Amino acid sequence: MKTSLHAPLLVLVAALVPPAQAEPPAQPHAPGIESKGYVWNQQDPELARLLARKGDPDKGKISYEICRGCHKADAAGKPEAGYPQLAGQHPAVLIKQMVDVRAGRRDSPKMHPFIEHDVVASNELADIAAYLHGLPVPASNGKGDGRQPDLGRHLYDRDCASCHGAHGEGDGAKFYPRVAGQHYNYLYRETLESRDKGRRNSNPEMVMVLKHYVDSDVAAVSDYMSRLVPPAKP
Ligand code: HEC
Ligand code: HEC
Repeated sequence: MKTSLHAPLLVLVAALVPPAQAEPPAQPHAPGIESKGYVWNQQDPELARLLARKGDPDKGKISYEICRGCHKADAAGKPEAGYPQLAGQHPAVLIKQMVDVRAGRRDSPKMHPFIEHDVVASNELADIAAYLHGLPVPASNGKGDGRQPDLGRHLYDRDCASCHGAHGEGDGAKFYPRVAGQHYNYLYRETLESRDKGRRNSNPEMVMVLKHYVDSDVAAVSDYMSRLVPPAKP
């Protein structure tokens, strides 16, 4: 009688105890803006293929589940933790950034284990992008200290609006991210990182513009961007 009781129990225990976790593969490293001969947005086959693919938002909603721990169910991110808001972002921007992280052109050791090839199939990235693009941009986001609004506006209109749009709406066709409604902490960090060539997939024209920015300029312009509200989507 003993064995007939224990055998199913053992099977149950075996199913509950996870096998020793294999280390996720380290993020690859591909040349970026720090390298000689860098060409911005040179598309590898995965990026080119996904950009041409129409994503399925319903499938994307399911694939996005693994991302919610950091980017949240409504894709509003976490302002304090520096997890960007993704809701409403242009699909081409989302796809470029995700593929750049997979390929090692943008370093994100935190996120890489959740987005590498063994975890998310290629086509799922297009689905996720379609899903995220359709989500409403949450009304509240992390803002800066609001101390230098005039400087922020002046710098933004002079140096950034030509690409990121007068209202921070960005331009998907050109891979220019929407920055309106993004969290201040994230905007500040990414602008600094882009200036210092730590964000290695950056647009060189943008890096040229940022070259002369001191940290307080970056703070003022990031504060301004965090407060931009684009006109409602048509
Ligand atoms: C462990 C936390 C974490 C998880 C899980 C995670 N991310 Fe991220 N994600 C980040 C962080 C942090 C950044 C900012 C880049 C950086 O500095 O590492 C980021 C950046 C991004 C960006 C770039 C946004 C931009 O505006 O440039 C996209 C797109 C993105 N994540 C999508 C996803 C998707 C899709 C998933 C799930 C498959 C996912 N992330 C899972 C933490 C995470
Ligand atoms: C020549 C066009 C151009 C100009 C000018 C420009 N940017 Fe950008 N910016 C980009 C592109 C393209 C990206 C995405 C980087 C990439 O290619 O992966 C970006 C990304 C960013 C990001 C990160 C957004 C995200 O979602 O991850 C911030 C923040 C930013 N830019 C701030 C600025 C600020 C501040 C200025 C003005 C001082 C500026 N940019 C000027 C093209 C530009």
